[in-house]
Amino acid sequence: MDKERKLIIAGNWKMNKTVAEALDLVNGLKRELSNVKEVDIVVCPPFTALSEVSKAILDSNIRLGAQNMSEHNVGAFTGEIAAVMLKEFSVRYVILGHSERRQYQKESDDLIARKALAAHAASLKPIICVGETLQEREAGLTEKVLETQVRGSLAGLSRDQMVETIIAYEPVWAIGTGKTATTEQAQQAHAFIRSLLARLYDEATARKVRIQYGGSVKPSNARELMSQPDVDGALVGGASLEVRSFSDIVKNSI
Ligand code: 13P
Repeated sequence: MDKERKLIIAGNWKMNKTVAEALDLVNGLKRELSNVKEVDIVVCPPFTALSEVSKAILDSNIRLGAQNMSEHNVGAFTGEIAAVMLKEFSVRYVILGHSERRQYQKESDDLIARKALAAHAASLKPIICVGETLQEREAGLTEKVLETQVRGSLAGLSRDQMVETIIAYEPVWAIGTGKTATTEQAQQAHAFIRSLLARLYDEATARKVRIQYGGSVKPSNARELMSQPDVDGALVGGASLEVRSFSDIVKNSI
């Protein structure tokens, strides 16, 4: 597939996989995906598996991401993990503001923006998640919600930082439900986000930013979604937990 931006397909393992299970999965992915050069492949295991997975993917084409981090650099923040600690395991990406954290941990756009700045300060690339709920979509509020989330969670990022930031459009109603956005719905939301980036930054910057789609991505729908002009990759939940399904998503996207 000939794309303007290099595709980035990331597996968000969420709260799944012991260290032994994580190693099984990533060793299988290494075998299946060793020849893939066209796509940036990222796995985001839980914190407890970062160390072992990091060693397992040395000398491979698979890169490491984390699922969250603190907005602080160091100090009395019980239970939190700082960017520099992730860097010790060669983590390159960090998912921020996933809808599950927005919902269960009450993360705000403002907090996500502070985390994004802390990530960039440590040279980690944030994957910033945005997306509307079903109620918001049905009330015709999709673009309004996306605009608020994008403006709020990117607040303070420079042009250079924006280019190194990934946005994941994840409609909440499509996460873990088996309901995928239609290719038209995905393309429309992605194009809207890109036009907003052009307004907030400029056209050239907006054209460089990769926007992933997330929400029930499977081997059977990956190709069609990835073929949309403004869809530059996927953030995969459930289907990233098995070697076969995640590697087929990557292969079907090329
Ligand atoms: P599913 O692929 O399980 O719908 O999850 C999507 C997601 O939340 C990825 O971050």
